[in-house]
Amino acid sequence: MPPWRLARHFLGSPASVTEARRFITIFLSQWTIVEAAELIVSELATNAVRHTASGRFGGRFLVSIQAEPDQVWLGVIDEGGPFAPTVMPASDEEGGRGLLLVSCLADSWGVYGDETGRTVWALLKVDPIVSSRRAAVRR
Ligand SMILES: Nc1ncnc2c1ncn2[C@@H]1O[C@H](COP(=O)(O)OP(=O)(O)O)[C@@H](O)[C@H]1O
Ligand SMILES: [Mg+2]
Repeated sequence: MPPWRLARHFLGSPASVTEARRFITIFLSQWTIVEAAELIVSELATNAVRHTASGRFGGRFLVSIQAEPDQVWLGVIDEGGPFAPTVMPASDEEGGRGLLLVSCLADSWGVYGDETGRTVWALLKVDPIVSSRRAAVRR
């Protein structure tokens, strides 16, 4: 089965984080990892809006999904900026936990790109037996 791919642009405003999350909910409704994927994309979309040029007037970010039977790749592509994504150590302070959460939920994750635009990606492994049973029940 070839990978199932879809990508969509969103305006770089806080309201778009909810839209990006809904995009994941609908696209991955048959996958066991849908809740983890929703959380990851919410955090990455929030970061694109808060910390990159995507959050400026007219800015946008792209959410890209590539789903295969045994894994789902999620990417949020922003418009860059001077700062690089950095996992902050756990603390009692408000905030600074988004990438820590992503790193805990994802089987692997990473960043590529530069100040003109970065892709922050996460990979979720899927248990094919559980997924096919779930798909069969919903059919
Ligand atoms: N897409 C991004 N581009 C540039 N910097 C980022 C990006 N995402 C996160 N960062 C940087 O990494 C830090 C940690 O991100 P995060 O763990 O989500 O905490 P928070 O967003 O609450 O500051 C941010 O404060 C920011 O400096
Ligand atoms: Mg954040």
